[in-house]
Amino acid sequence: MGIYINKEDKTYTLTTNNSMYQIKVDKYGILEHTYYGEKMDYMDMSYSVKCEGASFSPTFAGAERWEDSYNHKAQELSCAGIGDFRLTAVGVRNTDGSFGCEPRFVSYEIKEGKYSLNGLPAFYGDNAQTLIVTLKDKVYDIYFHLYYGVFEEYDLITRSLIIENKTEGKINLEKAMTLTLDLPASKTYDMLYFHGRHTRERMMERATIKHSQLTVESMRGASSHMENPFVVVCDKNANEEYGNTWGIGLVYSGNFKISAEKNLQEKTRIVAGINPENFNYEVLPNDSFVCPEVAMIYSNSGFAQMSNNFHKAIRNNLCRGQYKNAQRPVLINNWEGTYFNFNADKLVAMAKDAKELGVELFVMDDGWFGKRDDDHSGLGDWTPNEKKLQGTLSSLAKRINDLDMKFGIWFEPECISEDSDLYRAHPDYAFKMPSRVPQTSRNQYVLDFSRSEVVDNIYNQLVNVLDNANISYVKWDFNRHITDLYSVALPAERQGEVYHRYILGLYSLLERITTKYPNILFESCSGGGGRFDMGMLHYMPQVWTSDNSDAIDRLKIQYGTSFAYPVSTMGAHVSTCPNHQNARITPLKTRGNVAYFGTYGLELDVTKMTSEEKEEIKRQIKEFKKYYELIQRGDYYRLISPFTPEESLHCVWETVKPDGTEALVCAVRYETDACTAPEYARVKGLIKDKWYRINGSEEKYLGSALMNTGFKLDYIFDIYPSKLYHITLA
Ligand code: GLA
Repeated sequence: MGIYINKEDKTYTLTTNNSMYQIKVDKYGILEHTYYGEKMDYMDMSYSVKCEGASFSPTFAGAERWEDSYNHKAQELSCAGIGDFRLTAVGVRNTDGSFGCEPRFVSYEIKEGKYSLNGLPAFYGDNAQTLIVTLKDKVYDIYFHLYYGVFEEYDLITRSLIIENKTEGKINLEKAMTLTLDLPASKTYDMLYFHGRHTRERMMERATIKHSQLTVESMRGASSHMENPFVVVCDKNANEEYGNTWGIGLVYSGNFKISAEKNLQEKTRIVAGINPENFNYEVLPNDSFVCPEVAMIYSNSGFAQMSNNFHKAIRNNLCRGQYKNAQRPVLINNWEGTYFNFNADKLVAMAKDAKELGVELFVMDDGWFGKRDDDHSGLGDWTPNEKKLQGTLSSLAKRINDLDMKFGIWFEPECISEDSDLYRAHPDYAFKMPSRVPQTSRNQYVLDFSRSEVVDNIYNQLVNVLDNANISYVKWDFNRHITDLYSVALPAERQGEVYHRYILGLYSLLERITTKYPNILFESCSGGGGRFDMGMLHYMPQVWTSDNSDAIDRLKIQYGTSFAYPVSTMGAHVSTCPNHQNARITPLKTRGNVAYFGTYGLELDVTKMTSEEKEEIKRQIKEFKKYYELIQRGDYYRLISPFTPEESLHCVWETVKPDGTEALVCAVRYETDACTAPEYARVKGLIKDKWYRINGSEEKYLGSALMNTGFKLDYIFDIYPSKLYHITLA
């Protein structure tokens, strides 16, 4: 059905396979949000958002009833300053200095295909429709173009907002968040959010949305390890397979904010977009401001369905380039194997051994350029260190290629060391405030990417490297967050634009580089998973999930990440033991099994491995490739959480062919106990009346039995054991 307009009711109804979203122009021309939830036959749902009592709310000019207040209406676009005292999304400082806007309906337009956003990442594709609804302030010529993208097959509805200034003077946006969403019914909802820190990203937490604001946000200049720009709002009793669930994610990599609260109408409102703190954007006459996209997926049956739809939408209609759905090469990265301490001979020796195990791509990490033998210098000077490389970069690439392996390298294009030629030549390229000594983090500064000449300088340096050696892979890192935000290119009153302009500069660089090198596989990184968001995924189809490569810690990290992001986006490597981040010792097999459910690669000095260990890696690469399609394109189910040791000693998850004919379950025991009770895993997505075998067992199991009772997990007498269960038709 897609987009349905009922002219009589003045409703605009967006319908997907399982969801429905409705807005309506009321008699005052205000755009109301009347419904977002389970799909149903058409009905004008405005009865459910009628303004009822609740005093101490001002009535707008021309209102017929005293209850007709901006403070009561379920507004699709909520503006601050005009008597809506709940959470609001947009704050406009008009030319005359007054603050506030009263948007009224002007027109609408429907387009085939998905809209795109100038300068910002967005979902794309012909398998979608676009609705644009234009509102205008009652008084001033300020226009609000609300963009909706409808992807029926994924239950995905995207929203963006373009604010256009057609007045004769400049206006200032003091808040330009994309989304206002008033959820249906006076119910209490929960929110799942994914907090963390370096080496501990996306820890899932659940809280109830009450009358005070519940906020996840970043002010780090990047989406950050601390919070992820993605939340799940759901019924209080919702779980993996049950309950109303709305997944809400921002396609943005900078400062963001997602807030929810229950308001005076006992309704839950959510706003999401660019973080308004230290944000103030000037919009000149005839100019406009584009707000980042918000992606929303509703599910009437819990989290798994929502996650699987996000996975498909991200894989097919957000990621781009030849690798988005292609098999990625198995790589080895030298970082944990050598850190800065390497030369070309060492790398080639590692590559040679890795090749014998089946590795296809060798990645040279930090330390190959400028003066860079530790993290105190060199960033900004993207010139190969030919002493360390014992020749040119091209000659090293050739040595690797001669082993019949691809070659990749690491960059950190957005940062600069004080001890670098670039800094000596252009100290003003780094963010720093006038008269204040700038702060370092990992001994480095951040480049002012709000300036096009800074971006151009880095672009030219990157091109110079990439054009002069046979490079098939780039790891794009960002190892600190932004402080000392100040751009010498902007006047004092426009410094509130810099955070967002930085992100626009970054996106423009990524667009240029990824377009110029369509055959390079790009992996995004920010001290591990400090910028794992839908914005970066538009440019690079995989992200180094975390600097923590310990298989047991990874259970929680990959579990939380999987709520929004597909397995194909999660960089996951087997590293050495004791683990470099937490000293834990785990079986090599478990490290492999966990890394399979990501991109699988190695991050260790393979020349130091024993022959048994090498044999095990050889086996793993074969096994990973055997299951590649099933893992990367199957439906993903979290069967047993790693956060509930009181219920199970295992973390268990599954990938199943969409037609239910084959599944792979992985179980990792992360706690140990004597005299354990038997544990069962209930599988999902099989065919009820078909018979299955597990790992080729004699015994056959009915699909219904595996889904209702489950199968018994093997008890393995070891520390941190794991096992794969391959379920096939009998
Ligand atoms: C970050 C990355 C690591 C590695 C180092 C190099 O911490 O997350 O994987 O690339 O930088 O300095």
